[in-house]
Amino acid sequence: MKILVIGSGGREHALVWKLRQSSRVSKVYCAPGNGGIADDAECLPADMKNLESLLALAHQVQPDLTIVGPELPLTLGVVDEFTRRGLRIFGPTKAAARLESSKSFAKEFLQRHRIPTAHYAICNSLDEIHHALPHFHMPVVVKADGLAAGKGVVICKSKDEASSVASEMLSGKMLGEAGSRVVLEECLQGDELSFLVVSDGERIAPLVAAQDHKRIGDGDTGPNTGGMGAYSTQTIVDDQMTNWLVQHVARPVVEGMKAEGAEYKGVLYCGLMMTARGPMVLEFNCRFGDPETQPILMRLESDLVEALEASIDGRVSDGDFRWSADASVCVVMSSGGYPGAFEVGKKVMGLEEAAKVEGVKVFHAGTNRRDGAYYTAGGRVLGVTARSAELATAVHRAYEAASKIGFEGAHYRKDIAARALKK
Ligand code: AMP
Ligand code: GLY
Repeated sequence: MKILVIGSGGREHALVWKLRQSSRVSKVYCAPGNGGIADDAECLPADMKNLESLLALAHQVQPDLTIVGPELPLTLGVVDEFTRRGLRIFGPTKAAARLESSKSFAKEFLQRHRIPTAHYAICNSLDEIHHALPHFHMPVVVKADGLAAGKGVVICKSKDEASSVASEMLSGKMLGEAGSRVVLEECLQGDELSFLVVSDGERIAPLVAAQDHKRIGDGDTGPNTGGMGAYSTQTIVDDQMTNWLVQHVARPVVEGMKAEGAEYKGVLYCGLMMTARGPMVLEFNCRFGDPETQPILMRLESDLVEALEASIDGRVSDGDFRWSADASVCVVMSSGGYPGAFEVGKKVMGLEEAAKVEGVKVFHAGTNRRDGAYYTAGGRVLGVTARSAELATAVHRAYEAASKIGFEGAHYRKDIAARALKK
């Protein structure tokens, strides 16, 4: 069968890489893809914001199945449009994707369905912010309601700072329309966990959990990014906790969405904080995580196509995924300056040497290929991913491979999975 993957990041490279391992797949297209994806799939130009262009592309390549990586096309309704035209596509509808596209919708949904989450207030004006702020301890989290590519969340130490950040958001200066409504939230402490499940609207199959590292700097310092590295192990959550998360988070979400008339099909990404009061939902994403997908798919031993088709066809079952007991880790290499302004077009050296390190796969997140060479083309450039029976060995392998890669201004965190190794 022919598969079309929509997107251009490290997540999409990992999806393409895994899909190609299925005996049922004869051809993979990726739109728009990137320099590294072009080695594994036929890349075609595409505009994520323009559903007509994505439909035209599907018309051109006639895929048997389309898989969407990023949130933007999902929240614009790519699944609704493809389905209306009889095209098979994996993911939630526009209405179901509101769990990610509106944080106020997600918070009210969590409250309606008694799913544990931080205390919050939804504010539409600075006046409402000033009324709500006295009810929060500091630090307080200020969140833009809409999509902000990881830049819509600011942890504020004082009420003055919170009020000034909220004011920037509400004025539209900071994030445009996405900030026209703001959510204030209690700041939670604990370890973060990315818990993903695939659903067909009723049934659920959990994926192995992963932990992302959101801040740019070692020791969780500096601004938030899309994610600077992630790891997954068999012990990151035990079976009992997995069952708890299915029972108290994933299942109530899927049942609640169905009851509200917006059946949730596709991957549901539950971003959690494991607090002293128990796990609490920080956010939902309506798609695979990036970079979590890279270490998660490295551990997947069964056929990804089968599992995704089960979601479309309404036959998801607990055993859809078979996992390796190995640990895996992804270290993201980014452009100097990211998540702020950065330069592109820097030549990437050492990829061949890195690929020779045992158990390593280098996924491309933001590169171009020209005349057989690779150049940086984004904030996150590569996801150096490694697998091994022991987490320590996987980490060692990923860093050994990363040390062989160079480009001007390259940055990567040196402490991915370090906390897990200490435990
Ligand atoms: P979100 O887009 O809501 O997941 O927020 C992005 C990141 O901000 C999360 O992964 C956390 O690191 C941090 N964050 C969000 N909400 C909270 C909260 N209530 N308490 C502490 N940190 C948070
Ligand atoms: N790594 C966080 C995300 O995919 O949103």
